[in-house]
Amino acid sequence: MFRKHTCGELRIQDVNKTTTLSGWVQTIRKFGSITFVDLRDRYGITQLLFSENLNEKLEANPLGREFVLQVTGTVNERSNKNENIPTGDIELSVTEFSILNKSITPPFTIQDDTDGGDDLRMKYRFLDLRRNAVKKNLELRYAVGRSTRNYLHEQNFMDIETPFLIKSTPEGARDFVVPSRMNPGQFYALPQSPQTFKQLLMVSGYDRYYQIVKCFRDEDLRADRQPEFTQIDCEMAFVEQEDILNMFESLIKRIFKDVKNIDYTEAVERMTWENAMWTYGNDKPDIRFGMQLCNLKFPSHTFPNQPDISSLINGVDFKVFDEAETVIAIAAPGCSEYTRKQTDELTEWVKRPQIGMKGLVYIKCNADGTFKSSVDKFYAEDKLKAIATATNAKAGDLILILAGAEERTRKATSDLRLHLGQQLGLRKTDEFKLLWVLDFPLFEYAEDDNRWVARHHPFTSPKPSDIDTMINNNPVIENPAEYLKHPYANIKANAYDMVLNGNEIGGGSIRIFQKELQQKMFAALGMDDQEQQHKFGFLLGAFEYGAPPHGGIAFGFDRLCSILGGSESIRDFIAFPKNNSGRDVMIDAPSTIDEIQFDELQIKLDLKA
Ligand code: AMO
Repeated sequence: MFRKHTCGELRIQDVNKTTTLSGWVQTIRKFGSITFVDLRDRYGITQLLFSENLNEKLEANPLGREFVLQVTGTVNERSNKNENIPTGDIELSVTEFSILNKSITPPFTIQDDTDGGDDLRMKYRFLDLRRNAVKKNLELRYAVGRSTRNYLHEQNFMDIETPFLIKSTPEGARDFVVPSRMNPGQFYALPQSPQTFKQLLMVSGYDRYYQIVKCFRDEDLRADRQPEFTQIDCEMAFVEQEDILNMFESLIKRIFKDVKNIDYTEAVERMTWENAMWTYGNDKPDIRFGMQLCNLKFPSHTFPNQPDISSLINGVDFKVFDEAETVIAIAAPGCSEYTRKQTDELTEWVKRPQIGMKGLVYIKCNADGTFKSSVDKFYAEDKLKAIATATNAKAGDLILILAGAEERTRKATSDLRLHLGQQLGLRKTDEFKLLWVLDFPLFEYAEDDNRWVARHHPFTSPKPSDIDTMINNNPVIENPAEYLKHPYANIKANAYDMVLNGNEIGGGSIRIFQKELQQKMFAALGMDDQEQQHKFGFLLGAFEYGAPPHGGIAFGFDRLCSILGGSESIRDFIAFPKNNSGRDVMIDAPSTIDEIQFDELQIKLDLKA
């Protein structure tokens, strides 16, 4: 028997027991004639004491870091207790030991605060996974998965696997493709999600489906994106949006409870997409803090139902505002005493190419009720006061104003809000705020092709009240500059996203389930009948055999885990992630393949320059 206990198990009650442990050597400390070793396994660390009588054997068989060791001995109470670890009251006085395997010196220390840089830790990921910090993340991931499965099982969902070698499923990214040896010249695509399969399962009558499943998307990578990632993918038949929202906010609340012991009892806030864009400039707003946008000027067709307060800034001949399509202000709480250097830094920040603004106007709302601004030349005190009132700024706040083209300015203000929220400590990792964003636009304008694309995916249904607008209008965009005025720009979808602390953790929709409407949708996206048949004939065909009304959602499992674990990067929560270039540097993939593999596939490699 290699072990009777784990390295995290022994306690003061076990004193005087004889036992055997196996694990890895974490540290070796010599004190005169005795040697202390910390032995580590997945469950914890136990201190081993090698006394003088083992010195001869130790000299013949020297230990080293990360050696795999088996020890037998007696549990003793420690004279020098360690309150930081659960086994800190005891130690094992070793009577016998054997080295099960040696280790060469690891390239970095296997400790919480390691000396290994990111690249090194990725190359030796199997060693990195021995570290507590990474292990905790994987444990959290496992707990989230278990809680999810328990909840969905209780709710009658069935876990059904769907294939990985499929035909393209459009989710807005490029496909990874796999050549078929048996069908030379033909390719499978790896699923960007199981979207069409889960819909087919609804047609088959499996009215509550789920899967914790890998998805593959060839897209540019960021901290919260991997080329292969995992979704909690769900679909239900005979449901309306309300049913889905209730079912899945309860899932997330259950995960909060099971994994973090958080009672998230309040109802999840809901906001329309339009309101999110108006109030936060972002379709996944972080609502842990305020600093809402004050829209001083905007093109009326973008928010036709919102009040025009541009008179507050007009009429003083300030060209920057007069010539801008959009002017938006936010108030940074308690920042009125920012120095010149600090406001300059903010100006530089918004001028960076990623943000792309020309400058920043500020108004200091002094504690004594007076105002000081970078535009005092144009705006008298009463005007500044009126802007401050509209922005909901209080004495002591600093108002920041951006001006420019609509889309860019809105995004820049949102970015600035998040940046300041971070700086001011308003985005706490241990505070969780959920939000449903509803009523997304059905279509998005693709500038490069001057056509409409599905904002979510082509299977999402329009709001019933917008179906006529979709059917009765020609999708062609005559005037690209004015695409926002096309009737399609205002069609809303039965789609919803769940947002957690400013991150999109899930998204879904009520689907189209009638063949004719699905055909109209494909046509609106510019697909003629032939293309529809070629790409989606299987789905249109299935819709002819009694497809029930259905809808669903998919959560980004890695993302959910990383936010619950308080990290920005989903990589930390994936056992074997890819780096930013989509490489697995440990196994060195992607890589070239053998000539014989090309021959079998009947493919000749001829890379275009
Ligand atoms: P969607 O494309 O919105 O919906 O994806 C659902 C969720 O998956 C996560 N996600 C990602 N996580 C890591 N890396 C990526 N590259 C990545 N891309 C997406 C996000 C996102 O909210 N079939 C639909 C769902 C449905 O309609 O039911 C779909 O895949 O958290």
